[in-house]
Amino acid sequence: MTMPMTTTKGCEMRVSGLLHYGLQVPDLSRAGQFYEDFGLTLSERGSALAVRCAGQELDRTLLTEGPDKRLHHVAFAVSPGGLPGMQRQMEGLGVRLEDTPPAGPEGGLWLRDPDGNLVTVQEQSPLPAVPAAAPPMNVPGDHRRIDVARWVDADAPTRPRRLGHVLVFCSDVPRSERFYSRVLGLGVSDRVPGVVTFMNCGPGDHHVFGLVQSTHAGLHHSSWEVASVDEMVLGARNLADRGSRLGWGLGRHTFGSNFFHYIRDPWGSWVEYFLDMDQITENWTPRDWHDVPSAVWCPVRPDEFTHNLEPVQ
Ligand SMILES: [Fe+2]
Repeated sequence: MTMPMTTTKGCEMRVSGLLHYGLQVPDLSRAGQFYEDFGLTLSERGSALAVRCAGQELDRTLLTEGPDKRLHHVAFAVSPGGLPGMQRQMEGLGVRLEDTPPAGPEGGLWLRDPDGNLVTVQEQSPLPAVPAAAPPMNVPGDHRRIDVARWVDADAPTRPRRLGHVLVFCSDVPRSERFYSRVLGLGVSDRVPGVVTFMNCGPGDHHVFGLVQSTHAGLHHSSWEVASVDEMVLGARNLADRGSRLGWGLGRHTFGSNFFHYIRDPWGSWVEYFLDMDQITENWTPRDWHDVPSAVWCPVRPDEFTHNLEPVQ
């Protein structure tokens, strides 16, 4: 079955990108150390910790402390001046807007998805990714690295350049898909009906957001773009050396086609390094897929990959 790229009839406005996610954790300093070991930078935001990509003036994760690990919110961007129109669209759909929650960023719209997850839309100018000087790779018939020994600098520190996407668990994928399509204007990129839906914000990454079927809400994974396969493998090895015992990678995904390497954070959410994500335009044809594995090639996938360890809200 094929569908138009944007499936939402009557949706006038759509968010322009994924900004960040908020995560409640039982131990703020342990979480901060994990994200630093992953290759990101930290700064204090009152009682919260903000996680950023080095060289980028944008909070990409907001860590707050609480009794258990759980997704706190997901933040999307709308272009400057677009917030009133987005609010009218939400109110026209009967969406109830909420006050900014404690530790949530001010100035945007706050609402809840069908599982009760907090979602915010904030005005934000488009922010380019931190550029990476991709090392040239010699391939058959196209040798671009001449008289340069790659191994000499192949062990540079892993530095994620941007947050690419977030996938969340939900109790009813079709219901949540309708919500994110109608209210935020996200488009469907590909789906395995009733199992997972990948969603886009228009031209760009194949997916910036996704929904994974579960019994209840939770964060499945966040994904961060790096510049090379070396960075992915060395970053995962560094985390394993520091005690992160469960990972999955290196592999190449089916949906999105990206290289991936996952590591589990101290409370069971997956954090992914990615590279070489499919870029799509209005010419992309979304499809429903059946019996397709999640990777073209990979090591054996851990059984725990789709376990939702967050408590029921
Ligand atoms: Fe991913």
